[in-house]
Amino acid sequence: MAASCERLRHAWGVHAVHVRDIKPGVVELRLVGFDVLRQVKMPRRAERELLAVPVAVREDASVFVRDYRAVPHQLVLGATLSGKSMFLRNLLTELAAQPVALVGIDCKRGVELAPFAPRLSALATDSDEAAELLPVLVKEMEDRYDLIKARQGIAPGTPDEEITSDVWGLPDDERPVPIVLFVDEVAELFLVTSRKDEDRRDEMVTQLIRLAQLGRAAGIYLEICGQRFGAELGRGATMLRAQLTGRVCHRVNDEASAKMALGDIAPEAVGVAVTIPADRPGLAVSGDTSGGWGRMRTPYLSLADAASICRENAELTPEIAALKPFRPIAAASPEATPIAVTKPRPATG
Ligand SMILES: Nc1ncnc2c1ncn2[C@@H]1O[C@H](COP(=O)(O)OP(=O)(O)OP(=O)(O)O)[C@@H](O)[C@H]1O
Ligand SMILES: [Mg+2]
Repeated sequence: MAASCERLRHAWGVHAVHVRDIKPGVVELRLVGFDVLRQVKMPRRAERELLAVPVAVREDASVFVRDYRAVPHQLVLGATLSGKSMFLRNLLTELAAQPVALVGIDCKRGVELAPFAPRLSALATDSDEAAELLPVLVKEMEDRYDLIKARQGIAPGTPDEEITSDVWGLPDDERPVPIVLFVDEVAELFLVTSRKDEDRRDEMVTQLIRLAQLGRAAGIYLEICGQRFGAELGRGATMLRAQLTGRVCHRVNDEASAKMALGDIAPEAVGVAVTIPADRPGLAVSGDTSGGWGRMRTPYLSLADAASICRENAELTPEIAALKPFRPIAAASPEATPIAVTKPRPATG
C-alpha cells in the first residue's frame, strides 16, 4: 500500500495519500486535498486533556499533541529563526488554560518568555537567576518525593530512585500541581566565559539532569529549546539529551545539528530535517524513542495574542510557595491603564 501511495495520489487527483497500518490486515488511508502545512490552522475541535495539548498540524492533517504524561521531557532544536520560540509560544498558551504551573528560563534576557509573565509561576532571565531557580526546583522535586514516600509509608531513608509510583497515585487533594519548565536557548546555561563560572555551570547541568531523570514522577516536566545540542556543549550535554524522549527538529543548517536531535532515535528522519526550506518557519520533524517520525508545522500565533491569552489566564497561576520569590512581577495589562477621560467627538456632531 505504501508503495502505491504516489499512484493513488495521481489517480484520485489529491495533494497526498498517507498510509498507516492500524493492525495486521487493516490500514488507514488518509487523503489530503491540499498542502495543510502551507497555512496552518488548528482544527477547532482538537482534543485537549490535562497535560496533553495540540501544538501543531502534521502533514497528513492529523494533530500533533504534546502529551507530557506519555513523553515527559522534550528537546526542541533548530537554527535561528526556524520557529522554536513559536513552538514554545503555542505550547505555553495551550497549557496556560490548565491547572499547571509554568516556569521559564530564558537566558536571552527574557525576550521570549517575559511577555507571558502574568501566567508564569517563576521566570529566570539570565544564568545568574537560573542558577538560583534550578536548585529550588530540585528541592521542590525532592519534597514531592518525600510526600509520595510518606503517603506510601515507605521508610524515609529509601533512595528516591527506588520509588516507582508518582504524584498521580496521590489523592486529588494532596497531589502537587504539575510543573512544566520551559528553557529557551539551553546553550546559554552551558556556555561559560570564565574559569570561575565553570563550577556553577556544572551544578546547573547536574540539576537539569536530575530534573530530567526524576522529575516525571514528581510531576515536573521539561521542554528544552536550543540551536544545537551536542557533545561540544561540554560535560553533561549528551547525558541530558538522552533523557529527553520527545524530539522536535526545526530547520537546521547542517546534518550534524539534525543528528543531535534525531540521529539517536530516528536516523532516517535526519535527511528530512535538513531539507526543510528557510521560507517555512515552524516546519519541523518530530520523532520519539519509538522510532516513529513525521513532518509537522505550528500555526502562527502573534506574540501579542499569546501574551493576552496569558493575561486572561493569570488567575489560574498556581501558588507554589517555593517558587514565590521567582514569580515575575506581571507587567500592568493595557486594559488596566487609565483611559482618556474626554471622549472623541465626531467633527460634524
Ligand atoms: N508556524 C509558523 N508560521 C508562520 N511563521 C512562523 C511560524 N513559526 C515561526 N514563524 C516566524 O518565523 C520567525 C522566527 O520564529 P522564532 O522566533 O520562533 O524562531 P527561533 O527558532 O526561536 O529563532 P531564534 O533561535 O533566533 O530564537 C518569526 O518571525 C515567526 O513569526
Ligand atoms: Mg527563539
